[in-house]
Amino acid sequence: MLIRYPDPIAPSEITPREVYLNRRQFMGAGAAMTLALLGPTASAALPARTSPYSTAEEKNTLKEISSYNNFYEFGTAKSDPAEQAHTLKTRPWSVLVDGEAGKPRRFSIEELLKLAPLEERIYRLRCVEGWSMVIPWVGFPLAALLKQVDPTSRAKYVAFETLADPAQVPGVRERVLDWPYREGLRIDEAMHPLTILAVGLYGDILPKQNGAPIRLVVPWKYGFKSSKSIVRIRLQETQPPTSWSMANPREYGFYSNVNPTVDHPRWSQASERRIGELFRRKTLMFNGYADQVAGLYKGMDLKRFY
Ligand code: MTE
Repeated sequence: MLIRYPDPIAPSEITPREVYLNRRQFMGAGAAMTLALLGPTASAALPARTSPYSTAEEKNTLKEISSYNNFYEFGTAKSDPAEQAHTLKTRPWSVLVDGEAGKPRRFSIEELLKLAPLEERIYRLRCVEGWSMVIPWVGFPLAALLKQVDPTSRAKYVAFETLADPAQVPGVRERVLDWPYREGLRIDEAMHPLTILAVGLYGDILPKQNGAPIRLVVPWKYGFKSSKSIVRIRLQETQPPTSWSMANPREYGFYSNVNPTVDHPRWSQASERRIGELFRRKTLMFNGYADQVAGLYKGMDLKRFY
């Protein structure tokens, strides 16, 4: 997002499968636990039925999805996360869910994996920089987790925080952003059935560079809303500050809905380059999810609430 545009993917940026998947982690205790939870018949690491919310568009390859990343806690180049994310330890892991909740508590990653049936959600991801991908996530609705803690009537917003331990995510030593990486949603956006917490991708656990062990995915918003490696989710009455709008409020707002009619101050958002394709394609309102989400913004001036 420190804005290189356009930004063709160089062959040298493609990382071998062993590096991104980090087989040691996959073969380790975490995956064994996951397999145990899923039972002896599990063949893939994270078997899941494909949700009807999925797009039928051609998927990007695992190589593309896991070697062209934004995860500034590991550096600002697209290839940095795949090369550097090995320092992240995804077990043990837990997420504190607190704030305006009747039953705030901490969930271990093992509990999170059992919370709701895992689904494959094949979603478009549109980055604010002007590129897009189609990604087969494995995850479950964020609503399933929020319901567990009984949000109070004052819970109007949900704030998300990424791990900021310099030993594990060394990029936080650089003041590129105000860490921890922070994002937020309105409660109705958070409870929307399209909004998921992803724990896997292509039927396997999440590569670290994609936000292991658990990250947010909100397919009708620019990719930066999807916080990676989440350690805290807080329900609150007031709109939470977010890392990108704190860094540059003129360029990044709270809503960040994909909108081809509202330009970024420095470039148009009318079209996008699907990674792997030659020609640009038109960007769709709400990233093509307007039928499902336009109602959330009825009566709002989306040029003002960008
Ligand atoms: N989450 C954290 N913690 N740090 C980041 O730098 N980058 C965001 C988002 N989540 C980011 C993050 C941006 S700009 C994008 S486009 C998506 O992650 C990219 O997700 P992907 O690498 O899985 O495609």
